[in-house]
Amino acid sequence: MERIRSSKFNKPVFTCGEGVRFATPEVVASYRAGRLKTGVLADISCGIGGQTVCFAEECDRVYGVDIDGERLECARRNAGVYGVDNITFIEGDALSSQVVEQVADANIIFSDPARPAEENVRQTASLRPGIPMVMEAYRDVTNSFAFEAPPQMPPERIDFDCEREYLGVDGQLNRLTLYFGPLKGCERSAVVLKGDMYYRLKSGVYTSIGITEADEISDYAFEPDPAVVKAELLGELAAELNIKMGIVRIDARRSLLTSVSNINSPFFKNIYRVLDKVTFDCNNINRSLKEHSIGKALIRFNVSPDRYWDVRNRIESGLVGKTTVHLYQISGMIYIMEMLKSEPSNHFGTG
Ligand SMILES: C[S@@+](CC[C@H](N)C(=O)[O-])C[C@H]1O[C@@H](n2cnc3c(N)ncnc32)[C@H](O)[C@@H]1O
Repeated sequence: MERIRSSKFNKPVFTCGEGVRFATPEVVASYRAGRLKTGVLADISCGIGGQTVCFAEECDRVYGVDIDGERLECARRNAGVYGVDNITFIEGDALSSQVVEQVADANIIFSDPARPAEENVRQTASLRPGIPMVMEAYRDVTNSFAFEAPPQMPPERIDFDCEREYLGVDGQLNRLTLYFGPLKGCERSAVVLKGDMYYRLKSGVYTSIGITEADEISDYAFEPDPAVVKAELLGELAAELNIKMGIVRIDARRSLLTSVSNINSPFFKNIYRVLDKVTFDCNNINRSLKEHSIGKALIRFNVSPDRYWDVRNRIESGLVGKTTVHLYQISGMIYIMEMLKSEPSNHFGTG
């Protein structure tokens, strides 16, 4: 066991083995603890306690269970680090009747199960303890369950009657939480954490409006947060914003939404304004960049590694301006786009 500093936590934490690697980051744990605030909660695969200590800050009492005694000892010490004294720690198999009996007064069962480090296709069947087994073992305790699952899994691969909540932090897909029973608020949701705020988009609130496939960007482009994309909520986002948008597929993994007007939404990772659109020719691009007093151009299209520096040097030759732009290639044209600062609008704010 050792005590280390990690970017996941605001304080140095106790860990062993790969404890920190699998621990829930504090920012996520705090959000989730707020959503699951209750009287008595059992975290039945608590690891080094990254999530458990945040539950303890919100709930009256918490159980922290783990099959691994050394990790459980880390969790016990981390409770001390975070100054919480309302956790009962239990070493044992969460599926055993001895453990189930000890947490019989829990209102909510939470589990962030162990999963294989590598898997070709992420699936719920490889989680330990398994979701169906946990629900069976605790069925006389409560019907309020929440589980963490690998966020790479699309909604349709999760074959349970639950809410699938995809969570994004700093523009990256970070977590997937499944909520069962009374905890289920909708089929799919996306949550974006920004500072102390969170923003939630739910399925079933607005009727999804079709987003037209487009092969060119109009005046503005919006890169949706990956949590919204993964939750398949782009249509709902357009409906909530009450705006007609097109979607431009850049490649298999990247898409941009586009519109004639600028829109502010915390569900956009980046917002761009189109400065110019030119044919893919380094001299043309360079001329346009000079006309717009640009200093630096970030290449967002695919260039083979052996041509990269040649293309970049030609594009950036003689630039003296201060502004940086992003260059996207769509349908054979190069879009020269300036990134705008996104200011989340208040009406989305919760938390
Ligand atoms: C992903 S880690 C949990 C990390 C935790 N959320 C944190 O923030 O530190 C999963 C944990 O499940 C525990 N585990 C696996 N099977 C278990 C079982 N049957 N009963 C109790 N704990 C189990 C592992 O020992 C491991 O510590």
